[in-house]
Formats: sequence, structure tokens, C-alpha cells
Amino acid sequence: MKVSAFARQLETYLPGMCCPKCGQPFSLANAQLRCTSGHCYDLSSKGYVNLAPGHDQSREKYDAALFDSRSRIFEGGFYLPLWRAIRECIAQHFPVGDFSAADIGCGEGWYTRRLTEDFPASRCYGIDLSRDGIQRATRHRAACWLVGDLKHLPLADHSMDVLLDVLTPADYASFRRVLKPDGLLLKAIPGNDYLKEIRGLVKDRLRNQDYDNARVLEHLSAQGEILQRVTVHETFPLSPAQSADFLRMTPMTFSLAEGDLSGLALQEITIHMELLAVRLHEKGDAA
Ligand SMILES: C[S@@+](CC[C@H](N)C(=O)[O-])C[C@H]1O[C@@H](n2cnc3c(N)ncnc32)[C@H](O)[C@@H]1O
Ligand SMILES: [Zn+2]
Repeated sequence: MKVSAFARQLETYLPGMCCPKCGQPFSLANAQLRCTSGHCYDLSSKGYVNLAPGHDQSREKYDAALFDSRSRIFEGGFYLPLWRAIRECIAQHFPVGDFSAADIGCGEGWYTRRLTEDFPASRCYGIDLSRDGIQRATRHRAACWLVGDLKHLPLADHSMDVLLDVLTPADYASFRRVLKPDGLLLKAIPGNDYLKEIRGLVKDRLRNQDYDNARVLEHLSAQGEILQRVTVHETFPLSPAQSADFLRMTPMTFSLAEGDLSGLALQEITIHMELLAVRLHEKGDAA
């Protein structure tokens, strides 16, 4: 993609953006985003902007190989039940479909793409700290792809109708700043059975042997009103290739060596998630 074509595409997204260093608005000039305080960020010809240029990408656990595994898993349909729950929730709250949304920790952008395809009148931003993830996401053009840190979101104050946060850490102070007062946070957290087959296989090598989402839920309810809670719970059979991809793609196995994974095989996998639609309190616990 020519940088000039990308710059034209980016124009429509500028009103929802701000400089992550100083919070000032951006303008576009000479293939750069420049804020009114003079901070500059280059537009990549691949169709994204790196708004966290100080982040050391060589230390990222979320690298290209992991995103390859994840893409194949997404194409296998394992996360479609969660997407359907997200879609239904958004459709109830924004029946016209012309909302602004940011997918926080979007990875390779599978949910961001679903948003743009199922809600073509929406304006969507996909944001992740991993450049490999964002580079992969740019294969699809329909959203604004940004390398950025969720703690310093490059989004303007009170500009977003929807924030999507799927299996990604949260920073509620940042989320509160960028959401419109009547905006919606859609947070998906693992249920206690999420990938329980992997937990069973590597249990003796894990530090946190049993997962319980009670603390996350308790913290979330202190941050806002939970308007809706939808549980997704399905078990799928797996081919050997899908088993290998699942074992590679989850942070649960990050601390294990490649050798520890080879020889392991899963027959099936459980996707158990809780989707929470939250209206954040105006002020909340610092988090
Ligand atoms: C478990 S993955 C989930 C990705 C995607 N939401 C999904 O469900 O497929 C967590 C994602 O959060 C991103 N992430 C972690 N810390 C982040 C931060 N401080 N700012 C932005 N993204 C972050 C990682 O790079 C990774 O892509
Ligand atoms: Zn700035």
C-alpha cells in the first residue's frame, strides 16, 4: 500500500485519536502523524502506525509464529460462539450500528475484523502492543491498526462508544478516559473451564495450577455496573494440527520449553468464557 493512500484512509480516524505522550490531537503531514506539541510518528507502508515506538518488540512473547497458530485456530471457528455473544450485545445497545469501537489488545485483529464486517457503519480501531500482531492484522484494511499500549491509549477523551477487551489486561482509568459517558466496555474473561484440557496436561509444570476468575469479577464490579453477563461454554474435537496450534498459542504454556510441548496431544478443547457488558462508574478504584 502506498503511504499516501494509507494517509488518506487514516484521515477519517483522526478525530478519535490523540498523542499517547501528551494527549494532544494529531494532524497528518509528510507521511507522519504530528501532535500539536510536536511528537511525530511515521506511517508504515504496511498500513499501521506505531504509537509505542519505545516498546522493545524483540522481547514480545506474542510473536509472528504464535499469531500464525492463532489465525488457524480462529479460522477453525472455535471462537465464533464468543463472537456471536459480542455481536448480539452490541446490536442490542447500538441497533443502528454506527458506533465507534476500539479492540484493545486486538492481536491479529480477528474480532476487529468481525466488528467491521458485521457492523459496516462502525468506525473501528485495533490496538495492540505487539507489532507482529498488528502487521498481520493489516492484511485486512477495514479498520485503523495501531501499535499502542493500553495504559497510554492513543484515543481521544470520551471518543469511543464501545471498548472490546478479550482475554487482555485492563486499565480502567484509561478505559474510563476514552469511553463516552454512555459507552460500553465489553470484557471477555476466561471461565474456570477455559482450555481445561491444556491445564490438565501441563498442570504439574504450572505455577497457578487452578484458575478461578472470582477475583477478576470482583474487581470489575468495583469499576462499573455489570449490565449483562453471557456465558459461552463449548467443547470441540481437535485434529492433531489443531492440538499443536492450541498448545502453542496460549500464555498458559509460555513458561514451558518447546520440548515440553512436543509429544503432548489434546483430543478436545473447551472454550469457556464470560462476556461482561459493563458501564464504568465515572470514578473507580485506581487500576
Ligand atoms: C491473550 S491475547 C488476546 C488477543 C485477542 N484479544 C484475542 O482474544 O485473540 C492478549 C493480547 O494483549 C496484548 N497486550 C498485552 N499487554 C498489552 C498492552 N499493555 N497494551 C496493548 N496490548 C497489550 C498482547 O500483545 C496480546 O495480543
Ligand atoms: Zn504529543
